[in-house]
Amino acid sequence: MAVSREQAQRRLEELRRLIEEHNYRYFVLDAPIISDREYDELMRELLELEATFPELVTPDSPSQRVGGAPRPEFAAVRHRQPLLSLANAFSPQEILDFDRRVRELAGAPADYVVEPKIDGLSVALVYIDGVFTTGATRGNGEVGEDVTANLRTVRALPLRLKRPVARLEVRGEVYMPKEAFARLNKAREDAGEPVFANPRNAAAGSLRQLDPKVTASRALGLFVYQVLYTEEDEPLTQMEALEYLAGLGFPVNPYRVHCRHVQEVLNTLEEWTPERRAALPYEIDGLVIKVNNLGVQRVLGATAKSPRWAVAYKFPAEQAVTRVVDVIVRVGRTGVLTPTALLEPVRLAGSTVSRASLHNEDIIREKDVRIGDTVVIQKAGDVIPEVVKVLPARRTGEEKEFHFPERCPACGSRVVREEGEAARRCTGGLACPAQVKERIIHFASRPAMDIQGLGPAIVSQLLDAGLIADAGDLYYLKVEDLLPLERFAEQSARNLISAIEASKDKGLERLLFALGIRHVGERAARTLARHFRSLDRVQEADWEELTTLPDIGPKIAASIRAFFDEPRNLAVLEKLKKAGVKTEAEAQAETVGPLAGKTFVLTGTLPGLSRQEATDLIVRAGGKVVGSVSRRTDYVVVGENPGSKYDKARELGIPLLDEEGLRRLLRGEK
Ligand code: IVH
Repeated sequence: MAVSREQAQRRLEELRRLIEEHNYRYFVLDAPIISDREYDELMRELLELEATFPELVTPDSPSQRVGGAPRPEFAAVRHRQPLLSLANAFSPQEILDFDRRVRELAGAPADYVVEPKIDGLSVALVYIDGVFTTGATRGNGEVGEDVTANLRTVRALPLRLKRPVARLEVRGEVYMPKEAFARLNKAREDAGEPVFANPRNAAAGSLRQLDPKVTASRALGLFVYQVLYTEEDEPLTQMEALEYLAGLGFPVNPYRVHCRHVQEVLNTLEEWTPERRAALPYEIDGLVIKVNNLGVQRVLGATAKSPRWAVAYKFPAEQAVTRVVDVIVRVGRTGVLTPTALLEPVRLAGSTVSRASLHNEDIIREKDVRIGDTVVIQKAGDVIPEVVKVLPARRTGEEKEFHFPERCPACGSRVVREEGEAARRCTGGLACPAQVKERIIHFASRPAMDIQGLGPAIVSQLLDAGLIADAGDLYYLKVEDLLPLERFAEQSARNLISAIEASKDKGLERLLFALGIRHVGERAARTLARHFRSLDRVQEADWEELTTLPDIGPKIAASIRAFFDEPRNLAVLEKLKKAGVKTEAEAQAETVGPLAGKTFVLTGTLPGLSRQEATDLIVRAGGKVVGSVSRRTDYVVVGENPGSKYDKARELGIPLLDEEGLRRLLRGEK
């Protein structure tokens, strides 16, 4: 029987309400009242009706949770209020200090709320007339990325509130449950892709996917903890705010505790034993202690970095005791040899650990770590565990000292330790297979050329099969080359080739970073790309010119020169260019700002801007900031205690500006 548009409309509204209600019961309340099958039935009916009447699909329809069309890239969203971070406290004493400061500043004792500090990434959510309209990541705190489409796939996030509040802005934390994290990493390992170091990175990686379908597959969770703005009566306390949010249908963490004074706060902290933490289905890295009264919060305000009304109590690093079975040495991208202790597997902070970083030769000597030693290890900020100390009382006399190899374990080249450096380095350069491999892995990695599916395992495979010898060769691979290899079928081979193809357009900035020039990180790469605008021009630049750029010191400049003076590197660049990898910067809107084409030099301390902030403002307005004054300098911005650049500017008669003068120029005034 044909359904009329009006009937469809009515039924769709009903279905959406039902499905969201069951979603809420399942994902927020954890108390479903229908079976998965009945739920699937409702969803199927919804999808069929929407397929018949595509014009009736709305952004708040639960069908949108499966992930809409991919976005080319994320748009920037300016936050109404910056997303700050929290000051840390590591001991009860520091909590008492925090309480004392609050009492002094507020002029009265305060009551507090203690909440788990969810280890995820913060998001800012906007609802208009009760419908979820925009969601953004923290970004740099002031400007985040618009990840609305991806957030729609987070099941616990209400697409429509229980009441149509005219405007509501909230903040919360998106996280990846421990179980989903373990599953995801297992799958990535099986696929030869790099695993995520922790659930926070996994959550961030999942939310920042260009294809919302990928986000949808990652089972992210959400807790909301702050009302930034509401058009309804504002809650008066943090406890009320959390109740208010729960009442609108948001997931709010159940372990919030109201404490009447600081002693109750300390008692609550004690209740959070490592066992209790380990039993939670998601990671928390501490507890947040907040002044409960929102009026008092406003009085206390914030410093540039963090609010004065809250503090994060960080759990002490968890430690475990185990034995060093062996020490191995890995050769990194730049030839650095990193020693790693292989351990008897031991449980630590919720996972099994079987290796720990020993950092470098000096640290091994300082801690006197020997093979066979019993050691204390810890996870500091959940990264790779490290060896804290040896337990010498447990020595049997059988322990063996570790000697750093004189020759590279991968290529046999001589190993040197440069003056003033802690690291030992293989001198094999591009003749060292380990360095070659690490360079290609770096080239393909996400912040570099972002070639999806080209992880360490696949790179090894391609090298072993003799299909590539450097990053340049990637661009000449064909589907037929991959098919005979293990792990490749028609589709996966095609996917990899098209990912490689797509990376040609990643732009100069990423390319410069991807080349793996020693000391050139993402920031220096950006500076180079913005200044030179083409690979050829970077290649031609001499040391002097390079050192005039902000962020490029003598050491980095020398390293850039050395890279471009090496014929083997030039051969790789040639291959990249021939293959059509883009080596020119896109024309940028910046060149039309009020400072377009103008060159600035900064000297001295400005009253209201850090050097970085001033640089960012100038660059965003189309100008350029260089390190030294020459006749080509248009303006010198002078702060307190200026250096010799000021004298040079006066000598050359370059116009001088103070901060106010700079701000006038930025506003387009003379
Ligand atoms: S309140 C600073 N409450 O921790 C603005 N933050 O280091 C007030 N976080 O960026 C933050 N759980 O992403 C607050 N219950 C909680 C939190 C929480 C996790 C994160 C948040 C923030 C970071 C601060």
